[in-house]
Amino acid sequence: MEIYIKKNYEEMSRKAAEIVAEEMRKRKNHFVLGLATGSTPIGLYKELIRMHQEEGLDFSRVITFNLDEYCGLSPDHEQSYHYFMFENFFKHINIDKKNIHIPDGMARDLDAHCREYEKMIADNRGIDLQVLGIGGDGHIAFNEPGSSLSSRTRVKTLTQQTVEDNSRFFKTIEEVPKYAITMGIGTIMEAKICLLLVNGAKKAEVFAKAVEGPMTTEVTASMLQTHPRTIAVVDEEAAAKLKRKDYYKHVEKMAGLLKKRVNEKGKNG
Ligand code: PGA
Repeated sequence: MEIYIKKNYEEMSRKAAEIVAEEMRKRKNHFVLGLATGSTPIGLYKELIRMHQEEGLDFSRVITFNLDEYCGLSPDHEQSYHYFMFENFFKHINIDKKNIHIPDGMARDLDAHCREYEKMIADNRGIDLQVLGIGGDGHIAFNEPGSSLSSRTRVKTLTQQTVEDNSRFFKTIEEVPKYAITMGIGTIMEAKICLLLVNGAKKAEVFAKAVEGPMTTEVTASMLQTHPRTIAVVDEEAAAKLKRKDYYKHVEKMAGLLKKRVNEKGKNG
C-alpha cells in the first residue's frame, strides 16, 4: 500500500485530486471512475471541480460507478447518494449523464438490480480507479464487519454504529435507512487502483487497524492490504496511530527524490 500523510484535509484532498486527474489524463479515451459519498471525499470533489473550471479537466468521456445507495430513498431525497453526488460533484462538471451509474435503492427487484449493476461494471471493462472512505466500524462502501472477501454488489443491513454515524445527516435516527445496496469487497478488489481517503482523529484507530492490523473481515478495509495497488491519502490526525508512520513519510520522500533524479537524467540525456 502506498501511504501519503498530508498536513490537513485540504492537502489530502488536493493530493487525491492530483492522483485522479493523472489517471484520467493517462486513460483519456476510456476511464471508469468509482466514486464514494460521505463527508470525506467532498474536498476531493471540490478540487476536481476547480480543476475542471480553471484548468479544463475534461469529464466528458468519464464513466462513473458509485459504491452504494440507501434502500428506500428516492433520488431526489436530500440524503440519498444520488442527490449528494449531483449536488457535490456532477452538476458542476461536464460529465455526460448517461455515463453516471449509482445503485437504485428504489428498484423493485433489488437482487436483480444488484446483478445488473455488476454486469454494467463488467461491460465497461471494470473500474480503473475506485475512491473509498472508511467507516467508523472499518467498513469500505457498506461492507459491514463480517462481509465476505468475495462479496459482490448486494443488499446489506447496516450496523447500529453505521446508522448512528449517519444519523447526523437526518432529523431523527429513526429516519436513517437500515439497508443499503453496496458493491461487495470482491467488486472493489477488482478495481485497478483503490484510492482510500481518511481524515480526522476519530478515524485514527480504525485506519491503523485497516493498514497495520491483521487482515480480518471484522475490519473490511483491511482487505485492501491484499490489493495490488491501494493508495491511501490521509491527514496527520488520521495517521496518528500508525506504528510505521515515519517509515511511510520516508518512503514518500525517497520516491520523490528518485522521481526527481530520473527527470533530471531524462533532461540531460
Ligand atoms: P464519512 O463516511 O466520510 O462520512 O466519514 C465514510 C464511510 O462511512 O465510508
